[in-house]
Amino acid sequence: MNIYCMRFSISKTLILMSFTILALSTYGQKYYNLEFDAKIYDSQTLSFEGKSFSVRAYENIVYVSNPVDTTYQKMNIYIPEEYFAGKKINGYSAQSAPIFFPNKVGGYMPAKPASTKNNPTGGGDQRQNAVLFALSKGCIVASAGARGRTLKDESGIYTGKAPAGIVDLKAAIRYLRYNDKNMPGDASKIISNGTSAGGAMSTLLGATGNHADFEPFLKAIGAANTMDDIFAVSAYCPITNLDNADMAYEWQFFGVNTYRKGGPMQSISQGTLELSSEQIAVSKKLKELFPAYVNSLKLEDKKGTILTLDNNGNGTFKEWIKSYVVASAQKALDADVDLSSFVFLTVTNGKVIQIDFDAYVKYMQRQKTPPAFDALDLSGPETNLFGSATKNNQHFTQFGAAHSTTEATSADALAVKMMNPMNYIGDINSKTSKYWRIRHGTKDKDTGLAISVILATLLENKGFDVNVELPWERPHSGDYDLHELFAWIDLICK
Ligand code: DHB
Repeated sequence: MNIYCMRFSISKTLILMSFTILALSTYGQKYYNLEFDAKIYDSQTLSFEGKSFSVRAYENIVYVSNPVDTTYQKMNIYIPEEYFAGKKINGYSAQSAPIFFPNKVGGYMPAKPASTKNNPTGGGDQRQNAVLFALSKGCIVASAGARGRTLKDESGIYTGKAPAGIVDLKAAIRYLRYNDKNMPGDASKIISNGTSAGGAMSTLLGATGNHADFEPFLKAIGAANTMDDIFAVSAYCPITNLDNADMAYEWQFFGVNTYRKGGPMQSISQGTLELSSEQIAVSKKLKELFPAYVNSLKLEDKKGTILTLDNNGNGTFKEWIKSYVVASAQKALDADVDLSSFVFLTVTNGKVIQIDFDAYVKYMQRQKTPPAFDALDLSGPETNLFGSATKNNQHFTQFGAAHSTTEATSADALAVKMMNPMNYIGDINSKTSKYWRIRHGTKDKDTGLAISVILATLLENKGFDVNVELPWERPHSGDYDLHELFAWIDLICK
């Protein structure tokens, strides 16, 4: 249980007045100063896992000078009080402390910044408050809100369609880098964390550092004129690589003709439903397109074997995916989990030696109908993400546009490119994070397992340091293993 005990050293009124003063008026437009002012804060006394500690809370800082929506384009920053007294926490000092950067993006919706009072969310269960956890480990915490797919201005123009959300988070990173000298914490040690769509945002932050594609968008909102690359990425079940995710989903789930809905659009389960014959035909077409995509990537396993699929969807790539699920089951077995009910596993002498992949996928159950992301009737969260200022929903794949069941337009190709980290990893014009931690549960069917494995494998092949696991039986969720996450953060930061 987290107990919050707040003490206000400076009245809220005073803070509000200061922000109003910061909001200067230039030619009738509000202009926000990007200088961090260490003197304006609330003191908060927090309690976490039986330990009490104080932080200086800098909340609701607008992080761009020319915002579109100040409900979302704002950031909360928390700094342990000890750093202002020259003390160390967990071996970190005011100079060396990493900056933990969690986002609350879920379903590609608009997101408020995380705070010491609210849990980062995004489709999770049993989530601990990562903000408090990070502070107790001596991290500075900075969490930015971001625009999302449903946002509109007063005139009905959509203001949060792709790539607005990632542009906002990059702008917040720039704010932190720009103010590095005025603020405790090391802005060259920013670690992003997110789940699902928020995990996708985290991977984008890590992949696209300083890339010129984002520059005009960042300029338009008045982001600080500095770098936006980050040190490390933590991503739980990233709903990413969206323009290839439909094929990956059907490669995995083709043949599973019943489904139970879930995900951000379906909070109420409607029981088990049947795919129509049209949907089964779409599933087959998408499954058949996946090998060409996988083969085009020329990924390699650790021994240098090229990972490929034949026309039936079998081959070294499939074995590679299976090896991750087998490793996950082995880890569970080693931790004394009873695996006897999982009949798709072959266990001999304490070793998981084989998995019947088709039986495993049937056991997981399908959650989405084909295409899982670029819905042919434009009804999904992703077609909504790829709308424009004036169009609420658009297709973002050739397949979606070609098979659309409704009158539809297609997303701007640059917006689609900018939402996919695969386009930037290893590009000489972007600075990709060195360290990555990716988790995708073996019972997560919000996207195909291949999506996280492809991302991790590309990163490994390009020489980045990747810690990837598929936690056993874990459904779509995040922040469930914070002790391990922060042990990893200590490892890469110290
Ligand atoms: C999320 C989940 C989905 O299934 C999806 O398609 C997009 C986003 C989420 O939980 O953020």
